[in-house]
Amino acid sequence: EGHQEIHDYAFPFEGPFGRYDTAQLQRGLAIYTQVCAACHGMELVYFRNLTESTGPAMPADMITELASNFYVPDDGLEAQPGDERPATLADNFPGSALAGAPDMSLLAKSRAGFHGPYGTGINQLLNGIGGPEYIASVLTGFTGEEKVEAGITYYENHAFSGGWIAMAPPITEDGLFFEHADHAPTDLESAAQDVSAFLMWAAEPKLNQRKAFGLTAVLFLSLLTVLLYLTNKKLWYNVK
Ligand code: HEM
Repeated sequence: EGHQEIHDYAFPFEGPFGRYDTAQLQRGLAIYTQVCAACHGMELVYFRNLTESTGPAMPADMITELASNFYVPDDGLEAQPGDERPATLADNFPGSALAGAPDMSLLAKSRAGFHGPYGTGINQLLNGIGGPEYIASVLTGFTGEEKVEAGITYYENHAFSGGWIAMAPPITEDGLFFEHADHAPTDLESAAQDVSAFLMWAAEPKLNQRKAFGLTAVLFLSLLTVLLYLTNKKLWYNVK
């Protein structure tokens, strides 16, 4: 039931020369913490990771401040079971606050936006796996229809499998309720792409390094090919 409509967004980290856009990751972080974190967790990401230069590259003092707004289990010597304390740079984001809301650490890598045709996966070869496209499409895929079944409200969504999702539109048609520090647009389409890019970084923090290494490897192998060819010619020049 329900054909999934996934939009093919052009993210800056696509292709062999693609890299994360630091400013976009910072906007996505702001959206994640101000909107998504109310329900979703991100347990595999540590606050200190947000200072990495190939990630959001946030100043450490700002992230220390941000972390202190999140509460994690207190495992100190004096702590009683159930005690909590403000998080620090050394802590990870808490798990999901709302049962049923999936943890977002790996979501961008564990969902596919593109499939087929006919199980061949050719669309994935051409467009990529499409995890961030899927997330952005869910955020923009609400139709406004809702229904209640067994006490749970479902919202019609063209990108979610089955067509109905138990999540109210987290970002409304009016866009974000806050301004970005860099004054970038806060409309729904922009915000959906920004937070999806951030979640892609969360799921694959070493993408920049991986692509840089891949390029270096290809260059090195090309050079090696030329050298080996010349070596071969030189070694065997008198055997014709
Ligand atoms: C599911 C993204 C905010 C509650 C999902 C899914 C995505 C998503 C992509 C589908 C996951 C899957 O494929 O399994 C986001 C983003 C948010 C956000 C990017 C912030 C911009 C929220 C908020 C709440 C919430 C604020 C609670 C008020 C849920 C729940 C589900 C869900 C309960 C599971 C729905 C189901 O399985 O039917 N979210 N979400 N989300 N989200 Fe959110």
